[in-house]
Amino acid sequence: MKGRNPHSPALLSSVHAFDMLSFVITILIGTNRPGSNTSKVAAQVSELYRAFNHPPKLIDLAQLPPEIFQASSYSARPQSFSPFSDAVLNSSGLVVILPEYNGSLPGVLKYFIDMLKFPESFERKPVCFIGLSAGMWGALRAVEHLQLIFGYRNAFIFPERVFLPKIHELLDESGRLKDTEIVQRLRNQAAGFMQFIEAMKSTKTSPAA
Ligand SMILES: Cc1cc2nc3c(=O)[nH]c(=O)nc-3n(C[C@H](O)[C@H](O)[C@H](O)COP(=O)(O)O)c2cc1C
Repeated sequence: MKGRNPHSPALLSSVHAFDMLSFVITILIGTNRPGSNTSKVAAQVSELYRAFNHPPKLIDLAQLPPEIFQASSYSARPQSFSPFSDAVLNSSGLVVILPEYNGSLPGVLKYFIDMLKFPESFERKPVCFIGLSAGMWGALRAVEHLQLIFGYRNAFIFPERVFLPKIHELLDESGRLKDTEIVQRLRNQAAGFMQFIEAMKSTKTSPAA
């Protein structure tokens, strides 16, 4: 059933297939570890969206202002956090790239989510996941833990996830994914996610009872 596959190579290879669609893709780097492999993968994923003529915005948790980590932030967010929370609010779709830390998502990513505006940050927001790990599970558990959180927050979860196990073997010395099949999987995910964002737009006006 070649022609019925919504992610068929013919459709996905068309760089201009998404030109007419207006949306803001935002990539969230799900750790603040300096020099993280997550940020390297994010740079490459960013290129894939750019090649589809949808250059994404980037939220890098390594750039969070130190004052957000003061306990007083629970009651009053520092002004310096506004660009981060606004970036989430203004995104049409969020691509979360996260590593596995202790069998789950990085604590800083959960804290970041806790600091965002409730409920509007993720309500009916299309969200897509890429997980990576040193070990053999590719952050499967981390992504699934995060899916629980986004499910709670009424996000629209894009079902096609990409997992990158043994990340140190997948990256070359310049920090780029060297396996073309994996890059193609990420490209397919990007194309599918943009279709998903577009499809989800029509549901915005009919909130659940
Ligand atoms: C605090 C911490 C906990 C980690 N826990 C795990 C783990 O549970 N499973 C695993 O496969 N790798 C684990 N790793 C390794 C990361 O998956 C690895 O560092 C990988 O490069 C992705 O993280 P990065 O984006 O920080 O580089 C851990 C790394 C850190 C820093």
